[in-house]
Amino acid sequence: MLKLIVYYLPMPFVVYLLYLLSGSCLAGGLFFLGSFPFLIRMTEIKSENLRKKLKIFVSNYLFLYKTLCFMTLSAIGLGILGWGTIIKTPAFIWLSLVFYILSMWRGYQNYIQIKIKEYTVEISDYDTELNLVFLSDIHLSELRSINYVKEIVEKVNGLSADCILVGGDTIESHMEYLEDKGFDQTLKKMRSEYGVYGVLGNHEYTGDLNKNMEYLDRCGIKILRDESIIIKKLEFIFRDDKTNDSRKKLKDIYKSVYPKIVVDHRPKFEEALSEGAVLQISGHTHGGQFFPVNLGYMLKYKVIYGYKKIKNTAVIVSSGAGTGFFTYRTWSKSEIVRITIRGKAHE
Ligand SMILES: [Fe+2]
Repeated sequence: MLKLIVYYLPMPFVVYLLYLLSGSCLAGGLFFLGSFPFLIRMTEIKSENLRKKLKIFVSNYLFLYKTLCFMTLSAIGLGILGWGTIIKTPAFIWLSLVFYILSMWRGYQNYIQIKIKEYTVEISDYDTELNLVFLSDIHLSELRSINYVKEIVEKVNGLSADCILVGGDTIESHMEYLEDKGFDQTLKKMRSEYGVYGVLGNHEYTGDLNKNMEYLDRCGIKILRDESIIIKKLEFIFRDDKTNDSRKKLKDIYKSVYPKIVVDHRPKFEEALSEGAVLQISGHTHGGQFFPVNLGYMLKYKVIYGYKKIKNTAVIVSSGAGTGFFTYRTWSKSEIVRITIRGKAHE
């Protein structure tokens, strides 16, 4: 009996842990070993038939790869623990399968169920209120479905925003492969009193920038590059992505005395802090998306997700409404951000 408890009770946890390690390392390995650029380039293939076949392969690629790795590493792990014989038992096989499917299901749910994340930012001496919606990292590609985009638009319009801000990486890479998808006609239905304004992300630069900008225009998103606009006594600064080496400095874009809100794709805040912006809103990190990709972002950025107040500057980083390539998240959830800007209550 004791043997049964000692050996079998922790097994589900061990299996789950091994799954997380092996599966996620594998996804990371896939990314880092260079398969990722290869898979992205598949979308450039001209033959419609071949592209369709590859798309199905790609959609299943992560699943197949993770399954193989999970089984191998679980077996090695249990072998090291001296539980080698357990691997051959039906209980192990069934439990492994259940945990594996549950994790894949959860990862997919984290992607497909788009949450609304709300923040309130209070600004001194601001006597009115403004409701913003921030939408980032949709990553429109052949793998994104029209229903997913429709849901984004429905949710955004349901928030009755005064202004919609788009944080970049709206297009995965090439607009040419989005032509027959109807994404542009759907996104064009986003409504707000002051309009839909956006910045470019690093991904828009990976395709033909002019064509991608033209497509974003068709989506009803007015892309601003190192420009600012004033809405309700607030100055919004839309910075070009860092990919553009000659993007302007923040202070060279400022044009008013109003409080400054910076929209910049990547969550680097130093300049916003030194130039006295009240808020910077960014995306890019996907909230980490999955292990170990999240570790890379954690090393590079001080904030990869959520809200943080640094001195007098508030920073908000969104996990984004879509995902980079894989429709799978174990470290974050898809989201649309709503930000209420209002005056600071007097104490
Ligand atoms: Fe992105």
